[in-house]
Amino acid sequence: MVDHIHPIFDRILQRSDKEEKLQQRARVVWLTGLSGSGKSTIAQALERALHNEGYFTKLLDGDNIRVGLSNNLTFSAEDRKENIRRIAEAAKLFMDGGVICLCSFVSPTREIRAMAAEIVGEEDFLEVYVNAPLEVCEDRDVKGLYQKARAGEIKQFTGIDAPYEAPENPFLEIRTDQQDLETSKTLILEALLPHIQWKSATE
Ligand code: ADX
Repeated sequence: MVDHIHPIFDRILQRSDKEEKLQQRARVVWLTGLSGSGKSTIAQALERALHNEGYFTKLLDGDNIRVGLSNNLTFSAEDRKENIRRIAEAAKLFMDGGVICLCSFVSPTREIRAMAAEIVGEEDFLEVYVNAPLEVCEDRDVKGLYQKARAGEIKQFTGIDAPYEAPENPFLEIRTDQQDLETSKTLILEALLPHIQWKSATE
């Protein structure tokens, strides 16, 4: 498939050139968790906080990507994998441009998150497990989707009739049933700063 294609990666400006200009280290922060666990809310608060601290970011979020880049994909296991492959490639492009990319996707299996980490590069991929028990997410049912899934109106819904495999060794785990939004955001921010600060990373 990649015959007769000659990438010119060696002649283009490097990621480090962009990072120096932006005075930050680029990383991919990957939020995984059940629907309704709080990924999008945390990602939005985190992006705002990073923005206010002077960082240049890009937020990629499940619902937005699924009406655009992945609008031809279903929630079958195969299509979820393709969804995550596209997002990881997109996140890598942002990261190569020096941008801190926040990704908020159910990304339900260890296999697809391992694929995403491999595409991005293990050392640049910071996995955050946004953890709330299924009962809590179902109780919240912000979008009314759990009710539909229980009624059989939505098939292959993560946590109901499709699997969610918790990360085994995440960069960070956030319990959104035990911590409020402010605490969750601050915990991620504090863990993230040493990885993205230009000065501390070069000292
Ligand atoms: S993923 O599994 O491919 O990573 P993604 O994060 O893009 O999922 O999209 C998840 C969002 O789509 C959920 O927050 C929910 O609102 C919606 N959704 C619709 N159908 C499903 C389904 N069958 N399983 C999970 N989420 C679904």
